[in-house]
Amino acid sequence: MRRKPEARTSSEERVSPDKQDPKLLRRTEAKGKVTYWSVLINIGKCLLLIVIIPPFLNYASLQREGQMLVPKDGQIVDVGLGQKMHLLCKGKGIPVVVLDGPAGMSSDIWFYIQESLATMTKVCTYDRMGLGFSKRSMQNETTGTEKVWGMSTTGRMVDDLHRLLQAAGVAKPFILVGSALGALNARFYSHIHDMQVSDLVLIDPIPEDIFEEDQWKEYWLGKLVPSLQARQFSAATGLSRMLIILGAIEPSIKGEDVPEEVIQRQKYLLSNPAHQSSAVDEHYFLNESAAQVRDITKFKPLSSRMTVSAITADSFDGQMPEHLNQMVAKLQKKFLEESYPSANHVHIKGADWRMIYEKPSAISQHLKRLVNQRQAEQQSQ
Ligand SMILES: *[C@@H]1O[C@H](CO)[C@@H](O)[C@H](O)[C@H]1NC(C)=O
Ligand SMILES: *[C@@H]1O[C@H](CO)[C@@H](O)[C@H](O)[C@H]1NC(C)=O
Repeated sequence: MRRKPEARTSSEERVSPDKQDPKLLRRTEAKGKVTYWSVLINIGKCLLLIVIIPPFLNYASLQREGQMLVPKDGQIVDVGLGQKMHLLCKGKGIPVVVLDGPAGMSSDIWFYIQESLATMTKVCTYDRMGLGFSKRSMQNETTGTEKVWGMSTTGRMVDDLHRLLQAAGVAKPFILVGSALGALNARFYSHIHDMQVSDLVLIDPIPEDIFEEDQWKEYWLGKLVPSLQARQFSAATGLSRMLIILGAIEPSIKGEDVPEEVIQRQKYLLSNPAHQSSAVDEHYFLNESAAQVRDITKFKPLSSRMTVSAITADSFDGQMPEHLNQMVAKLQKKFLEESYPSANHVHIKGADWRMIYEKPSAISQHLKRLVNQRQAEQQSQ
């Protein structure tokens, strides 16, 4: 900090106060007060800088990174209604595999599975509106969909996905794969647009009745959502960026074979309050999403031509209390028996929803089998 010249004078004068005449002493006292205030003001300035600088630097970095880190193979697709969405397709061929991730996750969560499947066909992931590189557009009062579906519920996400796949001209019918919230979306999509989906794959699906359980509701709204809100706050204040720099927060997908760009992108999204805010919304409205899927499942059955498979793990979320995991498992079994009695079950041992990046080969294996079957059918025709 810069020291004011007066401050130096006053301290020099104070060295030998007995040699000074009283007038000078009084002036020195007044100057002492001035010094005291200027120190306080300087401390205040420092505090202000500590509060303002990290969010400011974070914001500036986000602007720069947002342009740098858009995936090179990705497309920003105009989906109408003034919205643009990020679609990332890799590989060539049909049937196309479309991947929809868990709540609050960007398309990077599918990194391993997409790389692995892209050797045999075209595989597309996308960022739901508000997440990753699908920037949420300003709310448009004349846009009907926002009003009809509210924010971040399955109905709206499926509407967005449908418009995205139409606009990008993705070949139909495709294999639709959803994980957790993505599985609610995949179900809703398949029930509504049943001619467009050949195979529906549900990975660790969220049962539509789960919010009828008070303990679950308590956990979800009382614990999980507030922790995500804290993460949003931490991103907005620049704290997340500092914690990432210090190594206290790490990206989920970080193996040796993960490109630096994917790692940087995860860090960018961890410090991005807009992304984190959409993550909060998706979790907050999950009960509405579940209710929408329950209604559509009753109202409109799936086409009998569509195959359904369910991939489940030992637990829904290893970080959640055991009794809640058991609750999910019981309700998963119930809805699969009731709504998809002929579904093919695959169980992956020792995993939770994180299996899509922790045990990707087990999932890729199953998806490759589905692709093989469909490709063999096409060749025999
Ligand atoms: C809102 O959406 C409508 C229909 O797409 C468009 O014509 C209008 O310009 C939009 N308004 C704003 C403020 O973006
Ligand atoms: C979802 O939760 C909110 C807030 O707790 C509640 O107001 C709303 O009615 C619930 N929706 C459904 C479909 O249960």
